[in-house]
Amino acid sequence: MKATILVAEDDRNLRRVLRAMLVREGYDVAEAPDGEAASAWLAERRADALITDIRMPKMDGLALFRHVRERHPDVPVIFITAYGTIGDAVEAIRSGAFDYISKPFDEAELLRVVGNAVRTSAVSVREGAGGEETGGWFGMVGCSPAWREIRKVIEKAAASPLSVMIMGETGTGKELVARAIHGISRRGKGPFIKINGAAIPPALWEAEVFGYEKGAFTGAVTSKPGRFELADEGTFFLDEIGDVPLSMQAKLLRVLQDRAFERVGGVKTLTADVRFICASNRDLRKETGKGRFREDLYYRVNGIPVHLPSLRARREDILPLADYFLARSCAEMGIAGRKLSRETAEILERYPWPGNIRELENAVGRAVALSEGEEITPPDLCIALADTEEEEATPEEMRFHESVRDHKRAIILRAIRKSGGSKTKAAEMLGLQPTYLSRLIRILKVEG
Ligand SMILES: Nc1ncnc2c1ncn2[C@@H]1O[C@H](COP(=O)(O)OP(=O)(O)OP(=O)(O)O)[C@@H](O)[C@H]1O
Ligand SMILES: [Mg+2]
Repeated sequence: MKATILVAEDDRNLRRVLRAMLVREGYDVAEAPDGEAASAWLAERRADALITDIRMPKMDGLALFRHVRERHPDVPVIFITAYGTIGDAVEAIRSGAFDYISKPFDEAELLRVVGNAVRTSAVSVREGAGGEETGGWFGMVGCSPAWREIRKVIEKAAASPLSVMIMGETGTGKELVARAIHGISRRGKGPFIKINGAAIPPALWEAEVFGYEKGAFTGAVTSKPGRFELADEGTFFLDEIGDVPLSMQAKLLRVLQDRAFERVGGVKTLTADVRFICASNRDLRKETGKGRFREDLYYRVNGIPVHLPSLRARREDILPLADYFLARSCAEMGIAGRKLSRETAEILERYPWPGNIRELENAVGRAVALSEGEEITPPDLCIALADTEEEEATPEEMRFHESVRDHKRAIILRAIRKSGGSKTKAAEMLGLQPTYLSRLIRILKVEG
């Protein structure tokens, strides 16, 4: 499926230039002449990345960025900067914008930045990144003894300058825990800069993390700070560290030891005051044994290890979490609060949750979308769990579930193709709500 890029820019000619470059590369492009039009567009459809000018009439680029960060946190925002606005863009990146490109821009640079953004966005959609969390402790809920232990470790880690290594199965809350550690630490007001080891192609790692000087390679028309430099006085969160290419591991080790690095093509040694938090869902110990991960780096990042237990190992947390997600989904959908029926609660407590908290979050969200009465009943959940129930199923049943999913994927893909790539039209054709179709696309990992 083509990725969609939304371009918010008041200069019509510049919009055209951007469109031409992006379309040539195979992207779908939508245009907005100001921030208000862009936010209206985003309310209806999903963009894989937003490119926005800073100075625009009505709503300017920085206001648009704040809006997107709140309402559509999985849409990466790329700023277009001109002389005089680079400082604003750098500040915005430190508070969560994805990147910037400077005017007049270079096609190779533009496509590199957009490519990175789209890949990152694909990862966060797969992860089902939710909206801004409210409630709980840093958006986290729990009451089990295991959870109380985790809280203690988080507080200990926050008070220490050591590197933190968060390990846990997929969906156990590694990123939320990293944000909590940052938030309580003395760096809490500084930037939290995240980079995903699996989302950056190996050849781009160095420029991405350490930045580059003008002329370092084709396309490097201006100098640019890397993610590490942007994390100065804050936290550098390296997600999926197990996927960092071996060639980069040596450079990371150096930066971990003395916080010193050079930009690509640069001669000056720079330093940044940064705390490292890493996460992995694989056993890095084993990876070192297989020669895929440097042992010295392993010891460096493993200053304070944090092990997040699977959800099935802390079943007391299932219902409090389910209630929390239920209240949140109802609020998001603007409907009155619903309750779990007793039977539903029992099913939730028994289910093994291989996808952990994220799976529970998705299951509750879907059940709310499908439910009709005031109570969430097992039938709502049955449909909701239909794609996951095979955990306890026989091999034949698993093949059945997989082939049902294949059919669903094929039907969705066909509808999208028939409607010329428009998900809104495809939803209409299938008689589904557009938001529900988007969910299905995520849940079924439909890829064109
Ligand atoms: N204790 C918690 N309370 C409420 N929500 C939580 C909690 N822990 C995690 N979540 C939610 O569960 C989802 C998964 O969390 P997160 O992305 O932090 O997991 P992860 O371990 O990084 O997963 P992955 O390995 O797949 O990247 C998120 O939507 C997050 O908001
Ligand atoms: Mg994660």
